[in-house]
Amino acid sequence: MTAQAQRTVLTYGTFDLFHPGHVQLLKRARALGTRLVVGLSTDEFNALKGKKSVMCYEDRKAVLEACRYVDEVFAEDDWDQKVADAIRTGADVFVMGDDWLGKFDFMGEHCQVVYLARTPEVSSTEIKQRMRDERTALTLV
Ligand code: CTP
Repeated sequence: MTAQAQRTVLTYGTFDLFHPGHVQLLKRARALGTRLVVGLSTDEFNALKGKKSVMCYEDRKAVLEACRYVDEVFAEDDWDQKVADAIRTGADVFVMGDDWLGKFDFMGEHCQVVYLARTPEVSSTEIKQRMRDERTALTLV
């Protein structure tokens, strides 16, 4: 493939308890280019956001790297690194789920910005809640 044909897509997230919503997002993001680069929120950055993942950064990274749609994973540890990341990775497209609609329009100065529709009815939060409910139900039996 020639350098001109290379099209880099950049996205971000926590990707805890890797689920079909993540797969769909990554698959559609990768289809927008030839290389998908993912900024993965570190545990420290998640703590800053008031978020706690079940899986640690290294485990979430290993799972993401095993996904056929992902070419590269790097650490996201700051809200303000996205422009520098886009320049460093040579991103042509910036992708996020539409729960972030409008929030990253400023990236339009550096690359195309695309918000993809979220897959309904699945999220890391929902899986964690389901596990809590199952545990309660089992305790009650
Ligand atoms: N995503 C999606 N469809 C879902 C869940 C997530 O398209 N059902 C997308 C998000 O919009 C984001 C990326 O996947 O672009 C990573 O999202 P992340 O926050 O890691 O996943 P969630 O399952 O939404 O996590 P949480 O419940 O902790 O917010």
